[in-house]
Amino acid sequence: MNAVTQAAQRGKELVEGARSVAELRAVEPEAFGKRSAFARLTGSLRDLAPTERREVGRALQEARSELEAFFGKRMAELEEQEASRRAGSERLDLSETALLARWAGGGLAEAPPSPAMRGHLHLVTQVREELEDIFVSMGFEVMEGPEAEDDWHNFQALNMPPHHPARGMFDTFYLDLGEGGSGGQGAPEGGGERGPSAVLRTHTSPVQVRLMESRQPPIYAVVPGRCYRRDTPDASHLPVFHQIEGLVVDEGISMGHLAGTLDAFVQAFFGPGRRARLRPSFFPFTEPSAEFDVTCWVCHGVGCRTCTGSGWVELGGCGMVDPAVFDAVGIDAERYTGFAWGFGIDRMAAARTSLADLRDLLDNDIRFLSQF
Ligand code: DAH
Repeated sequence: MNAVTQAAQRGKELVEGARSVAELRAVEPEAFGKRSAFARLTGSLRDLAPTERREVGRALQEARSELEAFFGKRMAELEEQEASRRAGSERLDLSETALLARWAGGGLAEAPPSPAMRGHLHLVTQVREELEDIFVSMGFEVMEGPEAEDDWHNFQALNMPPHHPARGMFDTFYLDLGEGGSGGQGAPEGGGERGPSAVLRTHTSPVQVRLMESRQPPIYAVVPGRCYRRDTPDASHLPVFHQIEGLVVDEGISMGHLAGTLDAFVQAFFGPGRRARLRPSFFPFTEPSAEFDVTCWVCHGVGCRTCTGSGWVELGGCGMVDPAVFDAVGIDAERYTGFAWGFGIDRMAAARTSLADLRDLLDNDIRFLSQF
């Protein structure tokens, strides 16, 4: 019985001493396998008397299976340790630095990753967002409207009935609505009263009409968006361009409020360096009307191709909302007055970046666009 205890003790020491799966496997024969004291003792059982044989045999069995269980537990521990160590060293490092280092044969291990190529918003979009921010900070809300408009919103409600000569200011793209649409290509002056004639909006002013039709004053809103005219592209004209419309309707609004608002805007957008002026003009939807100019950003007033020699570039029109427009949308012209403007965003982008030719904005040349 003593020898059994010693065999178990020896086996346990061997199992505990193994530091790896391989070492553990190697000690197995000596711990409780063929070369172990267990094997020897089992062999010598037959020399014992039958009663002793049974007793020692059972003790031998028990000690052995205990050791086997201990061995199994130890084996599981070591296997797990080794698996996680292997997972750690074989993990694929796909970070840019690691890949660079691998491609360079390890020599670039310390090199910083190359900067990722990132795009950015188009210059016109950046300017549009900045304009929105400026006017929001002045208390305006930002609205939008459809680019395909009907004759009513684009012209008639803005005091331009069919055949009104002012429609000639806008070289209009007409949409062919097919069967049932009366305002096809052969209708340069638009359809009937509120007919189905459709155009690509020639300005953002139709959204003024939509705003005033859908709610009562006070209204303080700006409307940025895309507009279309059948213009031949040149340094200062694009057939697809952007405007930001402004509309204020409230009690007691005067031309002084318009001038003050535009002053604040010029300060915020251009800074103190640029001069602006209001020049008497005509629009059917404002009375009085003015055009809004800033000093040319290319020649600074001397005269050049961009400003067609005048030293000033027109950013857009503005004025006091004509009472006829209030009548068309059902706002009480006795109680309310208002002002409005529509400025070209592309021109403002050009003014800010001293761009000589608006066509550069549409070429999508990444070498040009990436400067902004
Ligand atoms: N819609 C005009 C244009 O595109 C600009 C304009 C003038 C807008 C006067 C206005 C305004 O809101 O009051 O030429």
